[in-house]
Amino acid sequence: MSHVYLVGFMGSGKSTVGRILSEKLAVPLVDLDARIEDEAGRCVSEIFAEEGEPVFRSREHDALLKMEGEESSVVACGGGVILSDENRAFLKRTGVVIYLGITAAEALARVGGAETRPLLAGDSGAMAATLLQARETLYRAVADVSIDTVGKTPDQVANEALAFIEDRWDG
Ligand code: S3P
Repeated sequence: MSHVYLVGFMGSGKSTVGRILSEKLAVPLVDLDARIEDEAGRCVSEIFAEEGEPVFRSREHDALLKMEGEESSVVACGGGVILSDENRAFLKRTGVVIYLGITAAEALARVGGAETRPLLAGDSGAMAATLLQARETLYRAVADVSIDTVGKTPDQVANEALAFIEDRWDG
């Protein structure tokens, strides 16, 4: 078992690129946020509002660890999965990690603010810039490869990812 993990900031295209990659590689696509929502019986915004971020992170950690027993998949991770040392170690140990890079301004243009992304509540522009700056090092530290997505279509990004994992992924 070895997964292809897509990490990156909100709006970087993890789900869209993940769908294309999973089709090309003929393996399942796992959306970690969707797993968390299924398990919790509520959506991400509700989990943040009703249970708080620490509980969301704990749910996210549990959902990630469950990938250990699953068939090789493409896994679209939530943007904050890299915050935990344990998560980063797990990602590196159990698959190939691809970082999809994006600027804060482009991320905001793509996701449109806080409605579905509770961490962007308030001054979304400032939040996005601050969060991305704080995380950039962690994304790069965990990634086997970084792919800049700005100005590229999801197909182009997926093709770059495929070219990278061709020799390195034994899924
Ligand atoms: C988060 C990103 C979201 C979701 C949650 C927290 C983050 O996922 O997990 O709102 O901390 O960056 P996407 O990256 O898929 O938007």
